[in-house]
Amino acid sequence: MKKNQSASLQSGGKGAGERFSSSGFILAAIGSAVGLGNMWKFPYITGQYGGAAFFLLFVICLLIVGLPVLLAELAVGRGGRGNASTSLIRLSGHKLWGGFGFITILGAFVILSFYAIVAGWTMHYAMLSFTGKLFASEDYAMLFSHFNDSWLPVFWQFLVIFLTGFIIMRGVSAGIEKFNKVLIPGLVILLVVLAIRALSLEGAGEGVSFFLKPDFSKLSAESALVALGHAFFSLSLGMGTMMTYGAYVDKRQSLGLATLAVGGGDLIYAFLAGLIIFPTTFVFGLEASQGPGLVFVALPAAFSAMPFGSLFGGLFFVLLAFAALTSTVSLLEVPVAFVREAFKWSRGVSVFVVASLCFLIGLPSAMSLGNKVSWLTFGGKSFFDWMDFVCSNIVLPMGGLVVTLFVGYAWKGAAKEAGLRGWWLQTWLFMLRYVAPLLVLLVFLYSAGIIKL
Ligand code: TRP
Repeated sequence: MKKNQSASLQSGGKGAGERFSSSGFILAAIGSAVGLGNMWKFPYITGQYGGAAFFLLFVICLLIVGLPVLLAELAVGRGGRGNASTSLIRLSGHKLWGGFGFITILGAFVILSFYAIVAGWTMHYAMLSFTGKLFASEDYAMLFSHFNDSWLPVFWQFLVIFLTGFIIMRGVSAGIEKFNKVLIPGLVILLVVLAIRALSLEGAGEGVSFFLKPDFSKLSAESALVALGHAFFSLSLGMGTMMTYGAYVDKRQSLGLATLAVGGGDLIYAFLAGLIIFPTTFVFGLEASQGPGLVFVALPAAFSAMPFGSLFGGLFFVLLAFAALTSTVSLLEVPVAFVREAFKWSRGVSVFVVASLCFLIGLPSAMSLGNKVSWLTFGGKSFFDWMDFVCSNIVLPMGGLVVTLFVGYAWKGAAKEAGLRGWWLQTWLFMLRYVAPLLVLLVFLYSAGIIKL
């Protein structure tokens, strides 16, 4: 009895339902990594920053910086068995590290507030597509901007946040894990169906070669930094997510193998997303580098021109919505884990409070799009863009830096928790101590506009 009590204290008072099974953890972590980043952001930045050559850079960044930091975050979570702040405090004995951890928690909270808006767009577009309404329009740029002028995005944002809350309300094993176990196989099936459809379009080759034939003259120092930043975003690093999930992992599970599985899953997913999006845009003569509107403006035009377009278009947006939801679940869990531990509230109350706050914080972002409220746009950026900018370019690299420095220099038990030995251990520590901090610092200085290239 006594032993049990101290074990439960150690784990921050979490019961048996607060642990992942080993496959459940891998699926949930892949679900977190795979998201709008892979299907909405990755294709358009690949289009903008050099196609295949950029993809190659992304792969390199993922391998040399992304995977070591991912393993570091998971190890901190499992070693500390707390939220992204208390784990750091427990392992270091210093409140200061916990303060840094707290910033990453705020980051996850704010990312969710606007990520949920884009997730909502995908649901709206899935509906429009299945009902055929999407293709009643001719001008997709106009359709997208009218949609943003309306209050509909706020409705969908609300739905996404509370749906996410509803899932994690049921706990780690009965909620997060179960949900991912259903959604991830669905995601894979949709992805394969859509890739086959895209690759069998007549003239798909040109899109494939844009995506897979590198032209190094298109690369710039800026491409490299964008690739690194995206490797972080795509693996859900720097925002406490993987530290939080790590706390629910069994001691016997190999974190090294889990890291490889998540990195591999994320990469394969980005690759297949590219094989869907580039052929489709090229065949229909659309611009792959047109920025954030690619998925919501160019692709509807492409789907409208292909046979059974409303079916394929609908499936595409459902795929996007699924991918987004497995990520929003991981984002909401970060502040919820913190609030539960800090205020000793039940999971249900914590979810309700955090989700409501997140919706409120997200309102200005949602309202700043379209023509609803003009004063929410300042300095040339809408409130939405500001939130994205601050989180993705400042808080995220900073969070990454904190973890690399902590695990590389401050935490003595890191090697044991990560379960690495010999060459693997040396390489991991080398990356965490020297390569990752330097590169992350560069990204940070560049993204914050302190250095120019
Ligand atoms: N990785 C997800 C994507 O690619 C988004 C995401 C989830 C995320 N959790 C995160 C990004 C934590 C940064 C930090 O869409």
